[in-house]
Amino acid sequence: MIKQKMEIPNHVAIILDGNGRWAEERGLTRSEGHFHGFNNLEKLSDYIFKKGVKILSVYAFSTENFKRSKTEVSYLMSLFSEGFKRYSKRLSKQNIKIIFSGRREPLPKKVLKIIDQVTEETKKNHGSIFNICVNYGGQYEIVDAVQKIIKDVKAGILDEKNIDCHTMNHYMYQDLAPVDLMIRTSGEHRLSNFLLWQNAYAEFYFPKTYFPAFDEKEFDQAIIEYNKRNRRFGGINYENENS
Ligand code: IPE
Ligand code: IPE
Ligand code: MG
Repeated sequence: MIKQKMEIPNHVAIILDGNGRWAEERGLTRSEGHFHGFNNLEKLSDYIFKKGVKILSVYAFSTENFKRSKTEVSYLMSLFSEGFKRYSKRLSKQNIKIIFSGRREPLPKKVLKIIDQVTEETKKNHGSIFNICVNYGGQYEIVDAVQKIIKDVKAGILDEKNIDCHTMNHYMYQDLAPVDLMIRTSGEHRLSNFLLWQNAYAEFYFPKTYFPAFDEKEFDQAIIEYNKRNRRFGGINYENENS
């Protein structure tokens, strides 16, 4: 049974996948696919925040994506450095804070400059949060958290007796609420190293649509699907089941 009132997930995460295949199907280059994907994200994020989502995390570039051709990587880096500025102007008007998650090395200086600028420009905004994951890897995030924890324990800032799940979350790139709904477009059914810690109890949704074509209607469909799920968090809650 579907709940009467549509519940909007607090934290939505999206793996923006399928730009390359979308382009290929249309006889376009992979870069053109990324261009359309990036434009789509600008429109779609607007819609998602208007729907009432408080945190939106998107996977824009993984640590492993550096394995791709030089042409593709450098196109994406240019797209990021121009596009994030545009996102910032648009989302600032809606009081949205933009944050970035991932390792800085080996991102080019021009991207780091924009990342720092946009973070600074939007840091006082207190509406929703747009968490853009660039050069992000979930395993590295955990490794980096452990390194910081060891450093703080050695410095006497943190007592090792106090290390629990709450502390771990605090030492992640961002101290955010857990993911409620995780969407991966393009029909792939894997995490590819995205938000390993934060996705612990997320509901997963895998539409076949490639990201450049994942529009507002498709997002509404994801919300409908989310509302059909019965989240139990390890407990017992059969309220939506015929048992
Ligand atoms: C996702 O689209 C965007 C990035 C990884 C930057 P892909 O480039 O992975 O597209 P496919 O999976 O090859 O179709
Ligand atoms: C994951 O997609 C990374 C992003 C969407 C940014 P990939 O296309 O890189 O993942 P795999 O290689 O199919 O697992
Ligand atoms: Mg892909």
